[in-house]
Amino acid sequence: MDDWKTRTKLIHSGIRRSQYGEVAEAIFLTQGFVYDSAEQAEARFLEAGPDEFIYARYGNPTVRMFEDRIAALEGAEDAFAAASGMAAVNGALTSMLKAGDHVVSARALFGSCLYILEEVLARYGVEVTFVDGTDLDQWKKAINKNTKAVFFETMSNPTLEVVDLPAVAKLAHRVGAKVIVDNVFATPVFSRALELGADVVVYSATKHIDGQGRALGGVILGTKEFIRKTVEPYMKHTGGSMSPFTAWVMLKGLETLDLRVRAQAASAQAMAEALQWDARLERVIYPGLEQHPQHVLATEMMEKPGTVLSIDIKGGQEAAFRFLNALKIMVISNNLGDAKSIVTHPATTTHQRLPDDQKAALGISPGLVRISLGIEDTEDLIADVKQALDAV
Ligand SMILES: Cc1ncc(COP(=O)(O)O)c(C=O)c1O
Repeated sequence: MDDWKTRTKLIHSGIRRSQYGEVAEAIFLTQGFVYDSAEQAEARFLEAGPDEFIYARYGNPTVRMFEDRIAALEGAEDAFAAASGMAAVNGALTSMLKAGDHVVSARALFGSCLYILEEVLARYGVEVTFVDGTDLDQWKKAINKNTKAVFFETMSNPTLEVVDLPAVAKLAHRVGAKVIVDNVFATPVFSRALELGADVVVYSATKHIDGQGRALGGVILGTKEFIRKTVEPYMKHTGGSMSPFTAWVMLKGLETLDLRVRAQAASAQAMAEALQWDARLERVIYPGLEQHPQHVLATEMMEKPGTVLSIDIKGGQEAAFRFLNALKIMVISNNLGDAKSIVTHPATTTHQRLPDDQKAALGISPGLVRISLGIEDTEDLIADVKQALDAV
């Protein structure tokens, strides 16, 4: 099974069939499990075997199938499925940190990730130093003997900055710090974050893994020791576990993940190329374009540079809003990785909370629009964007 290719793993890894031999994965929609005897209950609480479950917050056969399948895809020893991407980010960080620890994080983060690092961890006595993720000197200066973890999005939301994962991992590992990455934009199909030096990889499964806008979910991947000894006790006792129904939705999502993500990335590349010299745009941000500052690094780190691009429209917010309102196929929303193409105006939605100077420092300008490519026809999508730019 270890030598199966991605698309085979995505269909068959982790399958657990019941006595009925069902083809599609069964949904074990149950909060708990009965024991044959009081002695069996006692023994299971002491140590549950691989096919023994206690309570859905601790684990469930459908959830375990999802964990085993995504772990096989990622090449991780184990995984813990979470109720949302944010439950996964919070679980990965909070389960391993304590007051007095030090964390170094990239500054360019999704708003809720920033909230955990800036507000939650600080409130519990964890010191956090923020750096420009693309500047290795800043990482070098900030990481010290007390640093327990470094955290960053391998490709940042929404400005698609690529962090040099192998180089940052080398600096972190020198002081024994864990490298925890949010790998949503790189996707589990194109990125091998563990091979590049990450110790822990986190995904919002709400994005490409479901990929059809149905459910919230997340997952934390790492060594068996870290997942079962550090993450699991924290998650199962604080309530951030994935529901069995969500796990079933995510299993179905995984079956088509590779096909969808490759189609989306091909459209992203085609759209970036079609728009890169458009005079109505200040810039087109996509790591697959040679003009992207980390194009070479992105090519080394990922098989393809993702399914999202950002454009900065001349004329600021007014022009950006006119563009959004003129689109006929793409929908205005704030998710990404969906089968439907989605456009977002980060400055007034996902990153609204940030003060203007911070937005400016992160490149979240008033004209910036994030485009998450869906699986519609590429030519139709490019035509939709061009007619909306004409309307601006
Ligand atoms: C980079 C990144 N990390 C984490 C999340 C949080 O995921 P979720 O909405 O599933 O909690 C998101 C999106 O919302 C995201 O874009």
